[in-house]
Amino acid sequence: MSPSQTRTGIQVIRPGLAEIRSGLPYPRLRADYLIAETKAFALNPTDNHHIDSLAGMGPIIGCDWSGIVREVGDNVTRFKPGDVVFGGSHGGNSVEPEDGAFSDIITGKEHATMHKPEFLSFEEAASLGVGLATVGQVLYPVMKLPLPSPDIPANSGPTLLVYGGSSATGTIAIQAAKLSGCRVFATCSAANSELVQSRGAEKWFEYHQSDFIEQIEAVGLAITHIVDCIGTEESGFHCSKILASTGGHYHSIKVPVPESFKRARPEESAVATTALGYTMFGERFEFPGVAEFPADPAMEAFAKKWVLIAERLVQTRRIQPHPVEIRDGGLVKLLDSLQEIRTQPPRGRKIVYSQA
Ligand SMILES: NC(=O)c1ccc[n+]([C@@H]2O[C@H](COP(=O)([O-])OP(=O)(O)OC[C@H]3O[C@@H](n4cnc5c(N)ncnc54)[C@H](OP(=O)(O)O)[C@@H]3O)[C@@H](O)[C@H]2O)c1
Repeated sequence: MSPSQTRTGIQVIRPGLAEIRSGLPYPRLRADYLIAETKAFALNPTDNHHIDSLAGMGPIIGCDWSGIVREVGDNVTRFKPGDVVFGGSHGGNSVEPEDGAFSDIITGKEHATMHKPEFLSFEEAASLGVGLATVGQVLYPVMKLPLPSPDIPANSGPTLLVYGGSSATGTIAIQAAKLSGCRVFATCSAANSELVQSRGAEKWFEYHQSDFIEQIEAVGLAITHIVDCIGTEESGFHCSKILASTGGHYHSIKVPVPESFKRARPEESAVATTALGYTMFGERFEFPGVAEFPADPAMEAFAKKWVLIAERLVQTRRIQPHPVEIRDGGLVKLLDSLQEIRTQPPRGRKIVYSQA
């Protein structure tokens, strides 16, 4: 790397405004990190949260990426220059502003990076990093389900509903929960019913129908685990009705846990949790002026284990990516799409940009 080399990326200029800036400093090569040339990026709702309020000024945003390794830090053992990879980065990180993924050259942590199989395009692979990390965190250290294994008989585990089964997180949650032996059900719109079934949902429920909760009850199974990928007051209320009367574990992917769930299910047997995927990096971070989060070594230890399992599940096609909508125009157009998803969130697909 030439010391004079710079890069181009999407940077938070001030809360509410992100712009493309060239001439940004080349990232530091930290011991547990690699530096990669990006090939594709995927959008996440959190990218806008960072722009609006969570990043302060200066950080590069973006979490999902794929690319080719250029350099590796001293502690990196699983990658070498030239490796074709994908991963999840801590975009909008006010403590390490250079960590975001929406840049031509990025830095990624080894334990949040995976080898890309040849059968996946860069665009498909770019859609996976955040979803895999989020689902791993929810199902295993939080819900304490058994890790995916071919030794687990199908349908031998708890009955789990993915609320928002057609979301990018939801389709991965369905697949991982199946591999952990769960019977899996999902809510989604009719238009996405084939998608959730193709990923392993035994039955789907159209949440727009006024009697969909009665339809779930009619299945006659106690749903003891719910992964709520929507996390609104409405979804929390619906999930409070769906969780078995004897209790169980409700997890809202969106932080915080909706009050509606806690109000309706205050009993101890109805466990309600939420978690931030950023804790998987094992480093201290902040939402400036809002909250500080100490490093979480236990979550980092899990992430190091999970990344190997997740990589294998992708390489053996046991976890498939969410459907992708590939758009051209690189970072310039990506910025426009971030505006678009504020009012028109993607449904049953993830918006992905190829590097221009
Ligand atoms: N805690 C963490 O670390 C973490 C990590 C990742 C994501 N998240 C959060 O998790 C949420 C989901 O992210 P994502 O990227 O997976 O979402 P996404 O793919 O953008 O979700 C879109 C899907 O949500 C469904 N949906 C939209 N509005 C709904 C509603 N009112 N009720 C029920 N379903 C609805 C739609 O289903 P249909 O089209 O089938 O109706 C659509 O397919 C976001 O809030 C995100 O910020 C948190």
